[in-house]
Amino acid sequence: MPGPVGRSLTRRAVPRRAGWTAAYASTAARAATGVATPIVAATLTSSDATDPTPDPSPTATGLQFPDGFVWGAATSAYQIEGAAAVDGRGPSVWDTFAKTPGRVRNGETGDVATDHYRRWSTDLDLIKELGLRSYRFSVSWPRVVPGGSGPVNRKGLDFYRRLVDGLRERDITPMVTLYHWDTPQELQDIGGWENRDTAFRFAEYAAVLAEALGDVVPNWLTLNEPKTVVQNGYLYGSHAPGKRDEAAAYVVAHHQLLAHGLAVQAMRPHLGPQTRIGPALNLHPCYPADESAEAQQATVLYDGYENRLYLDPILKGHYPQDVLDDVARFSPMQQHIKDGDLEVISSPVELLAVQYYCPIYVTGAGETVRKHPTSEAFWQQIYPEGMYDILTRIKKDYGDIALTITENGLPCPDVMGPDGTVQDTGRIAFLRDHFAATHRAITDGVNLESYHVWSLMDNFEWQEGYDERWGLVYVDYASQQRTPKASARWYSGVIRDNGL
Ligand code: FCB
Repeated sequence: MPGPVGRSLTRRAVPRRAGWTAAYASTAARAATGVATPIVAATLTSSDATDPTPDPSPTATGLQFPDGFVWGAATSAYQIEGAAAVDGRGPSVWDTFAKTPGRVRNGETGDVATDHYRRWSTDLDLIKELGLRSYRFSVSWPRVVPGGSGPVNRKGLDFYRRLVDGLRERDITPMVTLYHWDTPQELQDIGGWENRDTAFRFAEYAAVLAEALGDVVPNWLTLNEPKTVVQNGYLYGSHAPGKRDEAAAYVVAHHQLLAHGLAVQAMRPHLGPQTRIGPALNLHPCYPADESAEAQQATVLYDGYENRLYLDPILKGHYPQDVLDDVARFSPMQQHIKDGDLEVISSPVELLAVQYYCPIYVTGAGETVRKHPTSEAFWQQIYPEGMYDILTRIKKDYGDIALTITENGLPCPDVMGPDGTVQDTGRIAFLRDHFAATHRAITDGVNLESYHVWSLMDNFEWQEGYDERWGLVYVDYASQQRTPKASARWYSGVIRDNGL
């Protein structure tokens, strides 16, 4: 049976659709006219259908989250920091990719991004003002180890120390991702993730960070979405390093997983017993597109590629056999799995970070189809129930490991109105529905402790450049002025009340 190679609808894997979809158009219409056309029609209440202003009462649904539930937001280094050549930062694969003509929309790059490297302190004030209690950000590997191995850049490390201290001074808990796709270019030049050595270089870098920040960072995430690097970076070529090589793609999967395990081991000696480490995985609930036995069967394998390929080795210590067998048709992955690798990959972790954006529907032919409204991100389908399904499925198949949601969000065609506000009602509806589905999962016993909305602010959205706005906070890129959108104000209310 064909694997999902070249077919996945999960993330920017299909050609960009021409024109707006009905769902996007309805969101845009709402933004432009103030007429609320529900994008999540099934779960919006009748009052939403007539009231164009955001729901002023965050307790409207009466859902109360457990005491101690932590609300936050997420960003990543290349998407916000800018200062690409400042204070000794080395180039990463994303610098190279973005500067290659035709790779990123409008030829945009992360050179300046939201200038967070310079504006970090006022950005932290904003996080505080919004009431967020956890901030998930990533460290730029080439800012700390510019060549990917070798000398550590003190100035780079100092930046993250200032950031973490600044968070703590404001009573905001830092959650640090070690790798959000910005492989140092020097490592890419000698094979990047295709080269097993990169996993060891990553572990060395992880140890440097643990030693420097281990006393002040309670939650560490190793790799962000290794699957996206495999699929977008090595199958479709839509992300750095821009390859289309299915043989290499699954070798890259293994080496990233190995890097995760080696990093966990390398960090431990520097961390206290309460400090937690885990991976950040984008998970997709997979459903048969119809009732046929073929669709059911194809969905099992699809789920293997999307979820079990990453969850099983980390949490169960083995690769899923159906995926290994299928991959063997086109990739030498198995020859790269050395004795002892799975013990390393399954080194104990205390936290699983879940990133949920959309479900996948699979036909008997192994193709994907769309069943729900999409968004400005052509790969997204809006389906809040998928959040419930993926969270409860983790509990069923992988037990009660502590979970955190580290990404979930919606891009909207946000515009600043003449009154200086950004009325992103579509985002509010999206978040409310996903929070409600999450609440149901918690009620059903899922061990979820925190939720980070993607993203704190508008930023460089990879190959879409700055066109897609995912932030709770609007960024005017010309002036770098930050303006909390209606969703940010609404979210502050949710946090204040710890409920909807
Ligand atoms: C996730 C990425 C994040 C951002 C969101 C929209 O897959 O981790 O950087 O691009 O999608």
